[in-house]
Amino acid sequence: MQKDIFLVGSGLTRFGEWWGKSLRDLMNEAVEAALKSSGLKVEEIDLIVVANMLAEVTNNQAHIAALASSLLPHHPPALRVEAACGSGTMALHTACAFLESGRAKNILVLGVEKMTDASNDAISQALMGAADSELDAPSGLTFPGIFGLIAKRYMYEFGLTREQLSIVSSVHHKNATENAFAQFRYELSPEAVSASPLVSDPLRLLDCSPISDGAAACILSTAHRSEMRLAASQIASDTLSITERPTIVSFPATRQAMAQALREADIERKEIRVLETHDCFSIAAVINMEDLGFAKEGEGIKIYEDLYAGHTPLFVNMGGGLKACGHPVAATGIKQLIDVSKSLRRASAQYGLAHNFGGAGASCGVHILENTSV
Ligand code: COA
Repeated sequence: MQKDIFLVGSGLTRFGEWWGKSLRDLMNEAVEAALKSSGLKVEEIDLIVVANMLAEVTNNQAHIAALASSLLPHHPPALRVEAACGSGTMALHTACAFLESGRAKNILVLGVEKMTDASNDAISQALMGAADSELDAPSGLTFPGIFGLIAKRYMYEFGLTREQLSIVSSVHHKNATENAFAQFRYELSPEAVSASPLVSDPLRLLDCSPISDGAAACILSTAHRSEMRLAASQIASDTLSITERPTIVSFPATRQAMAQALREADIERKEIRVLETHDCFSIAAVINMEDLGFAKEGEGIKIYEDLYAGHTPLFVNMGGGLKACGHPVAATGIKQLIDVSKSLRRASAQYGLAHNFGGAGASCGVHILENTSV
């Protein structure tokens, strides 16, 4: 990083189904909590970067950056960033660029999505906007369909079994039981995952992240310090359509963003003990472990088997991941960074990463946070 950037405040709504709260209510709740935790005077916020994917479709609301600015009494300049489910990580990266250039000193980064007001059919169609409308969508695919294909191919290539895959959601649900902001706070056995209704063969209901409402806000600063310093902010992209890739069992943008992030932080992978990864579907969680370099090709499930058995020094998706914490798509990347900071404190660990992507890994960001107090 060209300047020291610190995470000086953070706020979340609980993720879930919020019939009684509007988009504005959710934004307000997260922003107020972030400002309160930072101790900054509200007038010190000199820019807002808002991540949002679907408000035009789900809430009849475009121009969401101006809506965010309306929430603060001095109406700071605001802009919106959209990269589907990876909007949050891209908003964080955009904020870093403003901070590094010196154009802003205290930035409120806000991610919000209110998805449950629309029917599930409408949401599935809207989410499919994150894939290629010419090359992918005409086949009738949905996102569970795309990741179902990926899971089928992965099982064929590497011999992953249905029973093994079910461990992933079980681990995430166990973690969520201790997270007051999680959508689903109950434990799940691997057997229950395997027995849940089929959504897109071989993926079942309990392999999927849910439809969620929620907001996450954090304040990044070069003017104020905290023990949480951003050590790296890196992004990478791939083809939008999975049909244009040589393989669908790995996401090269993750590999690229991770390599760049390690270089920027000037650390080795083994120094990272805390991970928040983008488990939109259980198979993605397995592939992420390989793309992030914590497991060899075809062996990502071993990390989850170790987590399930309690045999690893890694802290992975401690808030429950997308599966159990919920996935209000543009809020997720920002929530992940907040969860990394919580886990770093809890584990007294030095480095943690947040890995967030949009679509089938077409836009990816990796942020590395350093806990300077250890
Ligand atoms: N995990 C656990 N429970 C879930 C769930 C999930 N992922 N999704 C829904 N449920 C529960 C609901 O809470 C509800 O429980 P209730 O009857 O006790 O109230 C029940 O299952 C039925 O919910 P419903 O919304 O009708 O489910 P659905 O079958 O219409 O949708 C999915 C389920 C998995 C298809 C939908 O959540 C989905 O499309 N998820 C993927 C979202 C996505 O693609 N995101 C982008 C990723 S790239």
